[in-house]
Amino acid sequence: MQNSRPMRGVRIAGTGSFLPAKKLLNADLEKMMTTTDEWILQRTGIRERRIISAGESTSVLSAKALGAALADAHLSPDDLDLIIVATMTPEMPCPAAACLVANEVKATRAGAFDLNAACSGFVFGLNVAHDLIRGGAYNTIGLVGADTLSRHMHYCDAGRGTAIIFGDAAGAAILKATDDSSKGLLAQAMHADGPGWKDIYVPQLDRDFPPGVQPTADAINHVQMNGAGVFKFAVGTFPELIAQTLEKAGLRADDVDMFVCHQSNARILAAARERFGLAEEKLYANIDRVGNTVGASVPLCLDELRRSGRVREGQKVMFVAFGGGLTWGSSLWQL
Ligand code: UT7
Repeated sequence: MQNSRPMRGVRIAGTGSFLPAKKLLNADLEKMMTTTDEWILQRTGIRERRIISAGESTSVLSAKALGAALADAHLSPDDLDLIIVATMTPEMPCPAAACLVANEVKATRAGAFDLNAACSGFVFGLNVAHDLIRGGAYNTIGLVGADTLSRHMHYCDAGRGTAIIFGDAAGAAILKATDDSSKGLLAQAMHADGPGWKDIYVPQLDRDFPPGVQPTADAINHVQMNGAGVFKFAVGTFPELIAQTLEKAGLRADDVDMFVCHQSNARILAAARERFGLAEEKLYANIDRVGNTVGASVPLCLDELRRSGRVREGQKVMFVAFGGGLTWGSSLWQL
């Protein structure tokens, strides 16, 4: 009988990341708005975040992360068949940030497009890129997660609910076909809740405000977030998503070597860890150093974990994220 399972696998052949040099400490925010280091640390677990300076933007950060990932994989830009940039902050509506990245790294053969699922973007991208390779259409894909939300912050009292959380960064992974069909996705999920769009949005025009919300010039182009609402959603959804994904793969939490989760708030991560009785070292956290870097959050963690040897070939790793949309998704890999 013919085996219906595809014969090629997918591996993560390299990773890279880039953080802008400029640090924004809690002490700096204390000077800009009514807040305290103690409040921020206790409510979010964040001590500092990075933000872009003149000359830096999403595609600039992305190109540096992708370049590092290519070097790590011992590949050249011309080896890339496709570049996907998961971002909600491209420089312009057109061209896609991915096209600017292709230009910057000189990837002459690659197709390029952006994928916007806010904080879930990189995890959605892993699922999309994996299946494009597993199905045989592409061999080598550069997947980037990058965001520069500092462009949409109000560093004053009006924006203190968001400015304390978000930071800028980029992370990248090279996904590559392999003859070892055991490598690749074991289970995945991608979800969205349309009515939840009002919980995180960046209005451009008066028509973008939800019914009942008075448009103000101050809010235009700045992130509007129902922090408490998203917090509640995340605390419930994160563990549910992990449980669903484990069930699909027929695995237990103990079988997974590392959980790489979107760094939204240290308390949300702690809730997920407690629910599954996970040891602290099994659910990576870097939020204290970088804050919530949106689409860059998961690939930045992955790169740090690979470089320190804590994530390596042969392991089972689950990527999980949630964010604006509202969206949430998972990607469970046999590396
Ligand atoms: O990446 C995915 C999307 N985003 C998230 O995952 C964010 C999820 N939400 C959160 O992380 C939290 O909701 C925040 C960190 C944003 C806020 O923490 P919270 O514990 O939910 O605070 P809150 O908004 O319920 O506000 C509590 C109090 C309020 O004062 P009153 O009304 O109790 O007197 C706020 O005005 O804290 C006040 N507050 C602040 N105080 C000092 C709000 N922001 C600040 C601030 N500094 N920066």
